[in-house]
Amino acid sequence: MLVETDAHEVARIARAEAMKGRSVGFVPTMGALHEGHLSLVRRCRAENDFTVVSIFVNPTQFGPTEDLESYPRTLDADCAALEAIGCDLVFAPRTEDMYDSDHSTWVVVEGLTEVLCGRFRPGHFRGVTTVVAKLFNIVRPDRAYFGQKDYQQLKVIERMVRDLNFGIEIVACPTVREADGLAMSSRNKYLSAEERAIAPALYAALAKAAEAVRGGASGRQAEEIVRRELAAVPGFELQYVEAVHPETLERVEEAGPPMVIAAAAFLGRARLIDNVIIES
Ligand code: PAJ
Repeated sequence: MLVETDAHEVARIARAEAMKGRSVGFVPTMGALHEGHLSLVRRCRAENDFTVVSIFVNPTQFGPTEDLESYPRTLDADCAALEAIGCDLVFAPRTEDMYDSDHSTWVVVEGLTEVLCGRFRPGHFRGVTTVVAKLFNIVRPDRAYFGQKDYQQLKVIERMVRDLNFGIEIVACPTVREADGLAMSSRNKYLSAEERAIAPALYAALAKAAEAVRGGASGRQAEEIVRRELAAVPGFELQYVEAVHPETLERVEEAGPPMVIAAAAFLGRARLIDNVIIES
């Protein structure tokens, strides 16, 4: 497994693979890798000849009061885990090499980024789409892998790739959970033991709402279930819960599937997000 910090070198290696007729798969990450990330890498490896993983804590997607400084950085452990599952190339660029001091070009997906997390994290998705566009231009993969855990991000990236003709297949991968239902996240490291013990309540509430929707409940009723369930758990502070259409991310008025119920909640200093996808 190669570990590279230089974008030109990564571009050269990936291009050489493509020239040999080999398919290139790509998994962008911010590191502090867990089984959720590794499930994407395994799938990437199974579906492509050459697997590239990027590890870059992207400053432009963090708000001024967010956790850029404290975000966990575990590059050596990440590389060991990636090597063990057969990743071919790790791209771990330096911040100053990704962003020149006069960087001034941004990729903005309108509409989809203004709802859900976008309402509470202004500029976040602009940072995500800009860095992912840059990474796509460097690696030029055939396929790129994203988790449904970050459902809105997945939909925003799909739209960007379509609108800007990237010609990359976006592969959506299911959310990997701990045994008690908590969605795996690098930010779970912020939870104290007490907080960790109650953290699964977020998914439990979403799962209960999903069950109601399968039984014919409306989006509003589903949201109400999540609100009520979490209000009963001291320590949780729900930021939003919205039942939305899986593609437009607009709030659905009709009862029953298809629907995505997405929520964000603070627990201590961790901001947890999760969702359930209810297919028709
Ligand atoms: P990060 O949070 O490190 O996540 C990298 C990828 O792993 C994303 O596609 C995310 O959806 C996926 N992922 C995280 N937890 C998961 C879980 N429990 N199950 C399945 N997939 C999971 O998302 C980002 O980084 C950044 O915004 C990035 C796209 C790299 C741009 O900076």
